[in-house]
Amino acid sequence: MPSKPFAAPLHDSTLGALTRGYAWLPDRMRSAADGSVYRTRLLGKPAVAVRGPEAVLFFYDEEHVVRKEALPGPVLDTLFGRGAVHTLDGNAHRARKALFMALLKDDESVTQLGFLVRRHWRDAVREASRAGESVVLFDTVAEVLALAVRDWAGLPLPDEETARLARDCTAMVDGFAAPGLRHLRARRARTRQENAMGALVRAARERPADGAGPTPLEAVALHRDLDGELLDTHTAAVEVLNVVRPTVAIAWFAAFAAHALDRWPHHRKLLRADPSGAHAVAFAHEVRRFYPFAPFVAGLAARDLRWRGERIEKGTMLLLDLYGQNHDPDLWHHPYHFAPQRFSRAPRLPDGLVPQGGGDPAHGHRCPGEDVTVTVLSALVSELAALDYSVPAQDLTIPLSRVPTLPRSGFVLDLT
Ligand code: HEM
Repeated sequence: MPSKPFAAPLHDSTLGALTRGYAWLPDRMRSAADGSVYRTRLLGKPAVAVRGPEAVLFFYDEEHVVRKEALPGPVLDTLFGRGAVHTLDGNAHRARKALFMALLKDDESVTQLGFLVRRHWRDAVREASRAGESVVLFDTVAEVLALAVRDWAGLPLPDEETARLARDCTAMVDGFAAPGLRHLRARRARTRQENAMGALVRAARERPADGAGPTPLEAVALHRDLDGELLDTHTAAVEVLNVVRPTVAIAWFAAFAAHALDRWPHHRKLLRADPSGAHAVAFAHEVRRFYPFAPFVAGLAARDLRWRGERIEKGTMLLLDLYGQNHDPDLWHHPYHFAPQRFSRAPRLPDGLVPQGGGDPAHGHRCPGEDVTVTVLSALVSELAALDYSVPAQDLTIPLSRVPTLPRSGFVLDLT
């Protein structure tokens, strides 16, 4: 196929991306010639956005896309941390990723985390009912998740410090793409928690093994990278946070799940009559598909490439439009209908559903925490559906211009 002429200069879309949020890339992709490639500039660099299951394979081929130097400093200093697995390529990436796969792809261990979440959730509900207080679901779930992942990962932290950890983790996610105060709060939260986790890593390295098998904290502290060396303390702290922070971030999906139960209340009945939990799992998948969380992922072209006739020069920023793909009418029947049954009837398209990236998680950068997310979210969905509560008047709008977004009120519920 002949290559399309290169249309330069292109205007820089950074401001549009920041102000239009989740609508920016899907809108631009819709207006592109064949709807599957969009060329622009981002952060002053040429950028090409793609989407669709074939684009996922193209994007996650490490011969095509590299991550080193792809993520801007402000994102590393808030969301992921310097030296994180997200920034590695090739064998160095695979060696580090093996650590996460061993921790997060073990069914028994993931189930255990789900149990801990239910236990801490029930404690929180009991306490709030006793106090007769309204609950801001987002804040409560974030704290519940921090307590659960603390117990699961073996972090020796008292409850008050765990509550601080919960607030810091949500601040890191909330401020990564925001200007001003939100960004500053995210940076401060990261510095505080990198220091705190660094101290736990040092202590874990000094403790003699107790024969019970390593906790996730110990697994990170004792992990040896490709060079056979332990991670330096800072990098180990970053990677402990790369387990804890995204687990706490499931609070975003929990608030969206509560929003869905409020808007489409017939699901409550289906969930209450669901002893196997199958509907809760389908509901969790649909929450991940339908609601906006990660807008896109980015990398750099490893060499000169060609995609659908488009020439992509080495060093060009490549974007994979996750939110747009999860609402692409070519992939999803009535994509703007909330329909969990689409995940019970039909087998899922390989690389169709991409709220947490695509491709093979062991070899590429796909999120290793999808099993944890679905297990934890479906547990919370079942718990919410079983609970009697009312939803007082509040602002439940979800602004698409804000990244990350949330029902504005955080979803308040009154326990009856
Ligand atoms: C709250 C729900 C979650 C969302 C929306 C989410 C989303 C994502 C996305 C979009 C990526 C990047 C994929 C890419 O770069 O191509 C990612 C990577 C990652 N996620 Fe998640 N994630 C979630 C939960 C989790 C959980 C629960 C964990 C761990 C317990 C986790 C650990 C990671 C790690 C370590 C990476 C880096 C993988 C790599 O670079 O190889 N995530 N996640």
